[in-house]
Amino acid sequence: MRTVRSVGELHAALAAWRAAREPVALVPTMGNLHEGHLALVRRARELAAHVVVSVFVNPLQFGPSEDYARYPRTLDADARLLEGEGVELLWAPAVEDVYPGGYPPATTVRLAGALAEQLEGAHRPGHFEGVATVVSILFNRVRPELAVFGEKDWQQLAVIRRMVTDLGWDVRIVGVPTCRAADGLALSSRNQYLSDEERARAPALHAALQAIAAQLRAGHRDFDTLCAQQRARLEARGFRPQYLEVRSPDLSPPQANAREFVVLAAAYLGTTRLIDNLPVRLE
Ligand code: PAJ
Repeated sequence: MRTVRSVGELHAALAAWRAAREPVALVPTMGNLHEGHLALVRRARELAAHVVVSVFVNPLQFGPSEDYARYPRTLDADARLLEGEGVELLWAPAVEDVYPGGYPPATTVRLAGALAEQLEGAHRPGHFEGVATVVSILFNRVRPELAVFGEKDWQQLAVIRRMVTDLGWDVRIVGVPTCRAADGLALSSRNQYLSDEERARAPALHAALQAIAAQLRAGHRDFDTLCAQQRARLEARGFRPQYLEVRSPDLSPPQANAREFVVLAAAYLGTTRLIDNLPVRLE
């Protein structure tokens, strides 16, 4: 596996595949890779001849009081994991490689409307603008045929799909289901911020989503009541929920007669912000 940093090195590494017209899949990440990321890599390998993984902790998507400075950076370990998965190319640019005109960039990509402004967008102003901008730049530099993202960040995936549609990107967006620990906690680089005691309580977030899913399957449709009950249980367990909501899979308001829903949550446990979601498909 080759590790490249500059855009020039990246293009040189891609040139032969491009000349041979062999499909390239991109897996964008912020590094500190775990099994969830590796599931995306495996899916990418199934779908394309060549896989490029990017590792870039994107300052533009972090709020001023968020964890940009302390976000775990573990490039050597990441490279070993990717090598083990048969990845051919790792692109690990610096801030000046991604934003050559200077940081912050003058040009950004912002999605208007409820899709990006609710849920994560309401609690992390500017976050999806940072994500959409960096993903656009990564797409521009790599020009992948397809790109793989996790359902763990359901709203991020929806935002990227919408951006690709709106801007006419010729790239197929592929979603991969969330990888979880045996106790249900969704794998996340931020889980390592949890104390042992918090880690033991953390699966309650997934359990709350499952409880709501079970009630949806049982025919309950009072979405607000279902969520309020689980919110209260999470608060009793020491979580500080930011949102806990039922939506349609496209994040529009849920319809009582629908067959598909997604339950989405974000909550602080101590100083760690956890997010999770559960798609629900009725038989
Ligand atoms: P990061 O948090 O590193 O996640 C990279 C990709 O891995 C995302 O598509 C995310 O949804 C997926 N992922 C993370 N945990 C997962 C899990 N437990 N199961 C399945 N997939 C999982 O998301 C980002 O980085 C950034 O916002 C990025 C898209 C790279 C733009 O900077």
